[in-house]
Amino acid sequence: MTKAPAPSEIDWQNLGFNYMDLPYRFLAHYKDGQWDDGKLTEDATLHISEGSTALHYGQADFEGLKAYRTKNGDIQLFRPDRNAARMQKSCERLLMPPFPTDKFVAAVKSVVKANADYVPPYGTGGTLYLRPLMIGVGENIGVHPAPEYLFTVFAMPVGAYYKGGVKPTNFTTSYYDRAAPHGTGQSKVGGNYGGSLLPGSEAHKAGYSDVIYLDPATHTKIEEAGSANFFGITKNNEFVTPKSNSILPSITKYSLLYLAEHNLGMKAIEGDVFINDLDRFTEAGAMGTAAVIAPIGGIEYQDQLHVFYSETEVGPVTQKLYDTLTGIQFGDVKAPEGWIQKV
Ligand code: PLP
Ligand code: COI
Repeated sequence: MTKAPAPSEIDWQNLGFNYMDLPYRFLAHYKDGQWDDGKLTEDATLHISEGSTALHYGQADFEGLKAYRTKNGDIQLFRPDRNAARMQKSCERLLMPPFPTDKFVAAVKSVVKANADYVPPYGTGGTLYLRPLMIGVGENIGVHPAPEYLFTVFAMPVGAYYKGGVKPTNFTTSYYDRAAPHGTGQSKVGGNYGGSLLPGSEAHKAGYSDVIYLDPATHTKIEEAGSANFFGITKNNEFVTPKSNSILPSITKYSLLYLAEHNLGMKAIEGDVFINDLDRFTEAGAMGTAAVIAPIGGIEYQDQLHVFYSETEVGPVTQKLYDTLTGIQFGDVKAPEGWIQKV
């Protein structure tokens, strides 16, 4: 394992989104029907049985959230209770033992505190990305839930996920689906991402940031991007995002639905977004924890590139949404009650 460089050697402005082996992570073990207390460890590797269900049958789920450095040097989290709740839902879907919300948030905070020197300075645009992960482990070979589980939270400083950051990039639709109509699309499970590697790689090779998946039943409606949800802005000042039971219920999306309505005075709509009706949008973007708000320049569909606002400039509404969301996350804009937790 290559250890992370010392904080003083890190170029905070140009982090990208890469794994880094930081000094500490949290690890808890579920055995005989209960979770142990878990603890911080310096070991970045896991030693598990070859019969582990996570390896064979995809019994694995994860989360993604960030810690933000504020102007006065404090560190804070954005809605970590929502990540805990979503992970419990993912666990339900894969017959894994839910990790309680209070313990989840405490584990995240302990990892942030232990690696506090790696939370990027305010103003660099960097954040500390946290990756909670649960896997089924132990001896098993039949297609049944595992006898034991590991829950870990590790961290790394990150910058922009899509290389444009807040500059627009283009996305493409795909022949492939990310999830089945009544499958696991709503859950943050490893298998959804395994299946997205091939379409994602084809999109990258063709010069696109990510795939925009269409609904698996009819291929007529936008579902979401490979690593983020989709939104469009209409001429009538509406914030529109797809409603579907096979997309990930994005915490960023629900936050922006609220902020569009309450802070920006827009109409916030979760509904159908037909791929043949993109003219209704003056701006579009991808939103998520890693993606933050990434403006979409254009979407390729049936060999045509549909450009929204511009391929090079971020639109004014997208910029306002970005400023409001990141302002709250970094502590510069007043947050709705309960959204921010100090570390
Ligand atoms: N959709 C997918 C497929 C994702 O992987 C993510 C990232 O977590 C999102 C949407 C955005 O969700 P959130 O805003 O909770 O990070
Ligand atoms: C996130 O935004 O946290 C994600 O999980 C997206 C991707 C890195 C898988």
